[in-house]
Amino acid sequence: MKRVHLIAAAFFATTSVFAQSDAFPFGDPKLGRKVLQEKCSVCHVARFGGDGSGVFTRAKRKVSSTQSLLAWVQRCNAGNKLELNGEQEESVAAYLNQAYYKFK
Ligand code: HEC
Repeated sequence: MKRVHLIAAAFFATTSVFAQSDAFPFGDPKLGRKVLQEKCSVCHVARFGGDGSGVFTRAKRKVSSTQSLLAWVQRCNAGNKLELNGEQEESVAAYLNQAYYKFK
């Protein structure tokens, strides 16, 4: 029993080191930044100009919570057949939250 608790504690301690928000426990913002640049930014740049981040900072942006952030990442991923896996989706969401949305 004791041992199980120790393992659980170690797991949570480790994940919180790289998880910015509890909302994305498997997300690594560093990986997310890379995935965003490689797979997503080209289109956002083409549509919104600059470095593409205008889509995340525009006045009428559509993401309003951590849940809708992940949902939008999944929507853009699936809709454009980018084939990110679940960990990559959470990582992009974690990075976007850290850099732009800042939900708790
Ligand atoms: C082929 C173009 C295209 C690609 C590729 C694309 N997006 Fe988008 N994305 C859009 C457009 C257009 C919108 C705005 C949609 C709207 O306003 O209804 C958008 C909106 C978003 C939003 C919502 C922003 C907000 O708060 O309003 C997020 C988050 C997002 N994209 C993430 C991603 C991620 C992550 C990827 C890569 C996995 C990605 N997108 C790839 C075109 C794209």
